[in-house]
Amino acid sequence: MIIPDNHILVIFGASGDLTKRKLIPEVFNLKLQNLLPKGFAILGVSRTEISDEDFRQEMKSAIKKFGNNKPDESIIDEFVKSIYYTSINTKEFDDYKKIKDRLIQLDKIHNSNENYIFYLSTPPSLYGIIPRNLGKHGLNDQSVGWKKLIVEKPFGYNLKSAVELNKIIKEYFLEDQIYRIDHYLGKETVQNVLVTRFANGIFEPLWNRNYIHHIEVTSAESIGVEGRGGYYEGSGALRDMIQNHLLQLVGLVAMEAPSSFDSNAVRNETLKVFESLRPINKENVAEQVIRGQYISSKIKGEEIKGYREEEGVNPESKTETFAAVKFYIDNWRWGGVPFYIRSGKRLPTRVSEIVVHFKETPHYLFAKRNQMEGCNQLVIRIQPDEGILLKFGMKVPGAGFKVQNVNMDFHYSDLSNAYIPTAYERLILDCMIGDSTLYARGDAVEAAWKFIDPILQAWEEDKSIKIFGYPAGTWGPEKADDLIEEGYITWRYPCKNLSDDGNYCEL
Ligand code: BG6
Repeated sequence: MIIPDNHILVIFGASGDLTKRKLIPEVFNLKLQNLLPKGFAILGVSRTEISDEDFRQEMKSAIKKFGNNKPDESIIDEFVKSIYYTSINTKEFDDYKKIKDRLIQLDKIHNSNENYIFYLSTPPSLYGIIPRNLGKHGLNDQSVGWKKLIVEKPFGYNLKSAVELNKIIKEYFLEDQIYRIDHYLGKETVQNVLVTRFANGIFEPLWNRNYIHHIEVTSAESIGVEGRGGYYEGSGALRDMIQNHLLQLVGLVAMEAPSSFDSNAVRNETLKVFESLRPINKENVAEQVIRGQYISSKIKGEEIKGYREEEGVNPESKTETFAAVKFYIDNWRWGGVPFYIRSGKRLPTRVSEIVVHFKETPHYLFAKRNQMEGCNQLVIRIQPDEGILLKFGMKVPGAGFKVQNVNMDFHYSDLSNAYIPTAYERLILDCMIGDSTLYARGDAVEAAWKFIDPILQAWEEDKSIKIFGYPAGTWGPEKADDLIEEGYITWRYPCKNLSDDGNYCEL
């Protein structure tokens, strides 16, 4: 177990939701596991003017409300004593002097040796401004202590803005000081993809075009936009989930074995996957990408609002709350193997999973094809009910040779005492100890945008590309099934539609 050096975690956007819901409760989890160094403090930075003490009380309530541990109150009190607050206008160059002075003062109290992590949890429009101002005040200087910068998603809005953002940040921080967060990479089950593939001899020989028919990646949410309509309007499922979380999953499923588990070795391999994605030209977008938007429906008697009725959403919005993409990876391992990925809000359940569909037997000795449906699948359940499921055919006991589909199912919950760290907890600790393996590198983020950009452009320019309405509580537009050429194959539906409205439509 590596304990980080003494340091100060500076959170920009300290009065925001993420700080309360995730950052502070999850750093507190690290404290409970004795993973924080002796000399440690948090400095919250935001525009709101409040005292250290008031900020501490807010953070205490946040830990109690959002934390997954319920320890003795005195432990929380002890922890919040090391939390401080400074109010600045992040756009004002001179205000950064206040941060610098405060850090010098806190260094003395906490022996943090000028080691700082700057966490950008602000609106994305400030992601360029803050590093520049920090740099100009010398707060990027590593001649004494180390300095790291964590940047929340979204990293850019399209390829151009991501390239510009990388350029600005890199004027002041080196690539190995920059930690671009993608919280999916911090999920325990996502990391287990690498272990499943590279710590076992049984899967890797089959993990290629010779034995795999296609790969499916789904990240479904049952919730809607939950008061984030304003943000989501400018984002949509493609930017919000596919460009980052789902493509990162594809990177891990499809990459070659790295030469070591070193951060750059691993990230070189994901980059190669992104660079091998066959571009979806604007002309092919309508064929390879299906977009949808949830419309109102009734789920178990309850009226569910459509996306256009949500707060902050344009009543004529064309923003997609569902996207499904079919694509190929042009390299020796994956040549000709289709990848199908989809993500959506207001689907019937919350589930993220990777399904590896192995090829059928070349000849049906025992069972007809329809009896083998759902066989030959390896399902990696990312969340919830984390685990791995292998589906294959087995002989039904008795006379003859009847084949039945059976499951070999491993659930993380079966491991007694297994504590599954949350994604933020894992990632923040990794940054503290200087391990960027599970953070997205600048070149990979740009490569992912390069793949997504033509889709966004086609949607913007070509008004003939449809957006389909799907009733909240269903698995997205039925049209998404057409992405899969073979009529006898469908997406995996882990549960049934919740709404029977059936009024799929074109919007
Ligand atoms: C975030 C998206 O990155 O991921 C949200 O902005 C989404 O819209 C969330 O709800 C999903 O994360 P998880 O961990 O709940 O699957």
